[in-house]
Amino acid sequence: MTETDRLCERLSAKSRENFYDVYKRFEWTDRIDPDRLGMPPEITTLYGTDVWDDLSDEQKHRLGICETGNLFAGTLHGEQVLVAGLSNQLYGKKLTPEVTDYLHHFLDEENKHMVMFGLYCRKYVGRVYPAKSLPLPRALGPGEDLIGFYALAMVVEDFGDYFNIRAMRDDRCDPLVREISRVHHVDESRHLSFDRAYLTDLCEEWLPRWDDAQRKKFSDWLRGFMDVHWGTYYNPAVYKDVGLEDPYDLRLRAMKHPTQVALREKVAHKLTTFFSKIGLLIDAEDETVSD
Ligand SMILES: [Fe+2]
Ligand SMILES: [Fe+2]
Repeated sequence: MTETDRLCERLSAKSRENFYDVYKRFEWTDRIDPDRLGMPPEITTLYGTDVWDDLSDEQKHRLGICETGNLFAGTLHGEQVLVAGLSNQLYGKKLTPEVTDYLHHFLDEENKHMVMFGLYCRKYVGRVYPAKSLPLPRALGPGEDLIGFYALAMVVEDFGDYFNIRAMRDDRCDPLVREISRVHHVDESRHLSFDRAYLTDLCEEWLPRWDDAQRKKFSDWLRGFMDVHWGTYYNPAVYKDVGLEDPYDLRLRAMKHPTQVALREKVAHKLTTFFSKIGLLIDAEDETVSD
């Protein structure tokens, strides 16, 4: 039995211990408490920009609710891709029984997350913001489809987790928002620990067979994917729902603002370090050398 198999046994045991009924787990209030926030202001996409100070209290409140809705919708759409991929991997020839058992929990939990995120979005935002098309990797090298799949999963899960943690710890936020964020974070900690172990195994197995061009191509795709994924956080539909003018222009200005650039760098730091360590991201220095 490998280290990853043993990890999967522990994770499956924890998932069974924490098993919950998503339909009974939350108290769905009629509305988000007008005196509590939908999201900590400091992690909203307009924080730090010149627009922030001009927002009314009501608009700030609505922005928090809608940006949490946008985070939940973006995560839900990532989970759709995950559920399809995980389901296809079940009982594959290369999977050990321990990994397969854990993937059943992974799938079950992602399905529950889609239910709870969908309920929040429909009830408090009025709809689920539609999916943006994400650039999936074209499988060129051996093992690249699976490596791309888990790298994509980690980007969606790890970036989102930062926002979940901030909301669940913030007592200025609405109790339901905090509880959904907490439930998601607890499940995601297990998913991320599986992703880290399994992706490391995949890289050890396949990367030695990739040449420099292949590694550079994947690294470029991964950087591009992270950029596109960050772009989905800045949603013009949210700005429209808050009643703001020129939502597309506002999106570009917000993305460029130094406060926002710094927030994204802070959130992404741990994951990009991990990707570099396992050989999936080639840093600028290495690229110069190989050029
Ligand atoms: Fe999830
Ligand atoms: Fe997850």
